[in-house]
Amino acid sequence: MNSKLTLPQILAMKKSGKKISMLTAYDYTMAKILDQAEVDIILVGDSLGMVVQGKKNTLGVTVEQMIYHSQCVARGLSRAHLVCDMPFMSYQASVDDAVKNCGKVMKQGKAESVKLEGGEEIAPLIKRLTNAGIPVMGHIGLKPTHVHLMGGYKIQGRDEKKAQQILKDAKALEKAGAYAIVLEGVPAALAKKITHSLKIPTIGIGSGSNCDGQVLVIYDLLGMYQEIRPKFVRQYAKLFETISNSVRNYISDVQNGNFPSEKESF
Ligand code: KIV
Repeated sequence: MNSKLTLPQILAMKKSGKKISMLTAYDYTMAKILDQAEVDIILVGDSLGMVVQGKKNTLGVTVEQMIYHSQCVARGLSRAHLVCDMPFMSYQASVDDAVKNCGKVMKQGKAESVKLEGGEEIAPLIKRLTNAGIPVMGHIGLKPTHVHLMGGYKIQGRDEKKAQQILKDAKALEKAGAYAIVLEGVPAALAKKITHSLKIPTIGIGSGSNCDGQVLVIYDLLGMYQEIRPKFVRQYAKLFETISNSVRNYISDVQNGNFPSEKESF
């Protein structure tokens, strides 16, 4: 059995130039498969609102739902670091609520760190959380919980002013104590600049190849989620078709009386 990857080991990967692999998971069986394949970090993403719950965006996800999925995932892990997303409005209203909710996700959800979307405005909160012993991964650039403010899921930082702000956000999060930052949906050149400006690792999604690591939603990678197919997704399998064909075969075997066979009976 592999031993647990620690945060200092993840930080050391940036120094040594070894790229960090991160994927989402929402349940025990998938988490175990990803862990045994030796992915470095597993994210219980609030993307579960879309890919598990079938909602249009991530805004409706609750702290209790994140805790439930984090518990399921935690049972499947022996090596990967487990980070859990803090859902919309679980940390924005007050610092005290934020600390309580993040603490709950660690204590009850068995997460080893939390991920928060937000720029320099959440730096004081990150400082408070890290001082309390809660490691924080930042998430800047395209922030999916800001979908209405952004007017859709759009690349951020194409103009100089916005790019400067995202760089400033990254530096503020690092200074506040974040151990890594997800850079979502920013131009590759900006992601490169941010990555070179920081000592902590950047994990990119739709942000080019120069980040210190990459993250994808597992159902995108496996070709299962059909509603949106962003340009940055690489499908390593076509499981929608595979599952659908398997189920059709099962139905026809049941209808023809081919399942179960004698061998499959007692
Ligand atoms: O919720 C999520 O799955 C995410 C990423 C894909 C980075 O935040």
